Order: sequence, then structure tokens, then C-alpha cells
Amino acid sequence: MTTLPEYLKNCGVDEDLSAIISLIGAQAAPIRDAFISNQNYADSTNSSGETQAEMDKWSDEHITNVLAESGLVREVASEEREEIVKLSESAKYSVVMDPLDGSSLIKVNLCVGTIVGIYEGSCMQAGKDLKAAFYVLYGPMTTLTVSVGKGVAIFAQDKDGVYQMLKNNVKIPEGNLYGSGGVRTEWLGKHAKFVNRIENEGAKNRYSGSFVADFHQILQYGGVYAYPPSEKQPNGKLRLVFEVNPIGYLAVQAGGAVSNGTKTTLDIVPEDVHQRTIVYVGSHGMIAKIEATE
Ligand code: AHG
Ligand code: MN
Ligand code: MN
Repeated sequence: MTTLPEYLKNCGVDEDLSAIISLIGAQAAPIRDAFISNQNYADSTNSSGETQAEMDKWSDEHITNVLAESGLVREVASEEREEIVKLSESAKYSVVMDPLDGSSLIKVNLCVGTIVGIYEGSCMQAGKDLKAAFYVLYGPMTTLTVSVGKGVAIFAQDKDGVYQMLKNNVKIPEGNLYGSGGVRTEWLGKHAKFVNRIENEGAKNRYSGSFVADFHQILQYGGVYAYPPSEKQPNGKLRLVFEVNPIGYLAVQAGGAVSNGTKTTLDIVPEDVHQRTIVYVGSHGMIAKIEATE
């Protein structure tokens, strides 16, 4: 079996990039350990105005501290922090992260994860310029799904905490699953028409409330994850920098696509680190269908 460091070496990834991926991947154990004593919501809101779970704060502080100590990272941008944190000025790479995605599911012990993107230089770049993207899923297994621009591979931690390859060259099949955020009665015309169309074509609804877990299913079974606009939230809910870009990059590396319903989100240069975007991510055919919907 190929381990994560062996895979990254075979992909020609430099030592610093490989070390950052492995270092964040290794935080799965302390993060898993922290769930039991951080089950509640904190008395605080994040920059998107959402109530933070204790685990959102815990994992954000933990990963940021580990990256600061490593000396390997220039900047960290986190969903849970107002400002980009400047770390080691001479370091080559910067990290963007959603330290805990799907945090409303912590209390009910459903699958949540950590989403990470890595850029050379600063954090405020288009998703297409990512040097690597990955996510760790805290499911029945701890898995790490990664792309360094050479396709997508999935690893699972063994009993010694080593990430062993489960699958290489993952390709999103066309599939027929869909998951959509928002409230059906608040969906706007284009999204409602699209869901109607794919349901009539046999699409089946599966939506957990954890983007990262829902995407992991789409990655392997095919279909689409969507967070559409509404009157109240014209740009949807998900954040371009921390959520949509890393997952979109992985989708494209797996032969799928990501879109705001009109065009790819990977070309958008962020103006605000917390900006939101409408998102459709998954199989190529599904993304073509939403883009063709008036
Ligand atoms: P986070 O836990 O990082 O705030 O993200 C939650 C996101 C995403 O994971 C999920 O798909 C979506 O919010 C769920 O929102 P709804 O409850 O509105 O469906
Ligand atoms: Mn999230
Ligand atoms: Mn989060």
C-alpha cells in the first residue's frame, strides 16, 4: 500500500508542501479526541454571523497553533477568524481552511470534516491557482482526500495513524444524486427549475448538512451538491475561499466541475476573504445542466 508521504513524493511535491499536508492530516487524532468535551455551541459568532460551535473554535485554534509552530506557513485564512493571520514571512505556502465543516452535526455524531487549500504566496488567489487541496473526514474511518494537481487520491488512517491509500485517480461518475441547501419554498426560479428537471430525470435527494461529507458521496457516486441563492441570501451560504475553492478544485481534478450556476467559481479572485458564493459542484453533466437552465 502507498502511504500519503510516498504518494506526495511520487507526485513530485516539494518537502514543505508535503509536510504541511501531513501535519494537518496528523491533527485528526487530537481533533477526534476533542469532540467529547466540546459538544456545545459557544457564546460567539464568526465573521459570517454564524454561532460558533465549541469545536469550531477548538479546531481553528489548534490547527493555527500547529501551523504557527511549524514555521512552514506564511499566512492562514480561516472561516473562524475575521483577519488573515500572518505567520512565517519567508515561508513559501499559505493555508486557507474551514477547520470544522458541518459543525451543526457534531451534537448528533454525523460526519464532519476539515477542508484545506494551499497556495504559493498569499491566500487571496483564485481557486484555479491552488497548489493543493484536501479534506479530512471524521467518519467511521478517518480519511484524507487530496489533490496536488495530479488527480485525486483517498487515504485512510490505519491503527498506527498512517494514511494508507484507499483509491487513486478517483473520477466522479455521472451519477444521479443531489443535495441542495436552503429551504425549498425560498428557492429562486432557476434553481427550482433545475431541481425539477433532474428529479424528473430520476435524481435522488441525499443531503446531510455537512458539505464535505455530502461532497465525498458525490465524488464517488456522482451527482451534484448545491447551495443556491435565495432572496435573503443572494450569494447562497458557502464561502468561496474556505469551502468552495478547495472542494471545487478537487471536483475538477476528479473530472467533474464547479459553478455558481453560470460559470466556474475557480476563476474568481476573492475580494473579501469571507465572501460567499452560490455553488454547484459534482458531475460534469449536472453542472452543464444548471448552467444551461435559464
Ligand atoms: P460550517 O459548519 O462550516 O458553518 O458549514 C456548514 C455548511 C455546510 O457544511 C452545509 O452543507 C451547509 O452549511 C448546511 O446548511 P443548511 O443547514 O442551511 O442546509
Ligand atoms: Mn463549512
Ligand atoms: Mn466551519
